[in-house]
Amino acid sequence: MAHALFRAYRHLEHALCAQRIMRVHSPFVYGLVTEVLRDKRTFYAFGETAGLRQRLEQDPRVLDFPDFGATDAALDQSAVRPPQVQRSISRLARRAACPPKLGRMLFRLVEREAPEHILELGTSLGIGTRYLAGPGRHRRLITLEGAASVAAVAAEHLQALPGVEQRVGPFAQTLEPALRDLGRLDLAYLDGHHTEVATLHMVRSCLPWCHDNSLLILDDIRWSPGMWRAWHALCAMDDVRLSIDLGRCGMLSFRAEQRQKEHYRIAW
Ligand SMILES: C[S@@+](CC[C@H](N)C(=O)[O-])C[C@H]1O[C@@H](n2cnc3c(N)ncnc32)[C@H](O)[C@@H]1O
Repeated sequence: MAHALFRAYRHLEHALCAQRIMRVHSPFVYGLVTEVLRDKRTFYAFGETAGLRQRLEQDPRVLDFPDFGATDAALDQSAVRPPQVQRSISRLARRAACPPKLGRMLFRLVEREAPEHILELGTSLGIGTRYLAGPGRHRRLITLEGAASVAAVAAEHLQALPGVEQRVGPFAQTLEPALRDLGRLDLAYLDGHHTEVATLHMVRSCLPWCHDNSLLILDDIRWSPGMWRAWHALCAMDDVRLSIDLGRCGMLSFRAEQRQKEHYRIAW
């Protein structure tokens, strides 16, 4: 309840205070706003993913799995197992999956930036993965998920996608090897384990693999006071030259051309 109030307040504040397009000066951010955030084109893949979402929303199968995001314990490889939960696929599709607006934005971002090495933390049912893979710009896309039964449902429709690799296990075990195998991180979508400690840990793990044009997208930055603190701590890091607050999610960029650090809050 306390977090729900926190989220409502933070989202309202963003809606009221975020910049409108005429106040954006950075060419990179201007391109992002006009060609990614406000682009109204419809792509064939949108319809396909919407159809998949609809099928999953009607799927009554119930899955049993460990709730990895519940505590910070899952970060520690030696820690006790996270609590076991039961959820229907339809509930996961309605509540945990990437919403269409965000998914379409991810698709257009990949279409525009053409990242070859993509990492997703938190596959869940694979809806976000479909949007990231949709433009076919990637050479390799690795998506990580701790809950084996959930990952198995995603595998039903992700297996056929070229260049997409699913890995199952706690991030504590899968993140480092995935980064090593990618060798370079062009785009990462962090959409799992929404705690302050975990978020800071995941981003710090990604940093050595980032370069000037890398983009890190963090979902649910307004999810809780802890996520909000993590977002601000990350924006303040020296390596982060540009941070873009989009309300629900945030983007971090490391562009060296960006001599002065800049922070944008954008309504879209
Ligand atoms: C919000 S869902 C991901 C939604 C998905 N990205 C999409 O776009 O549809 C978060 C997922 O991250 C997984 N997760 C959370 N913390 C994790 C951890 N420490 N290790 C592995 N998986 C984790 C959860 O099991 C859950 O399925």
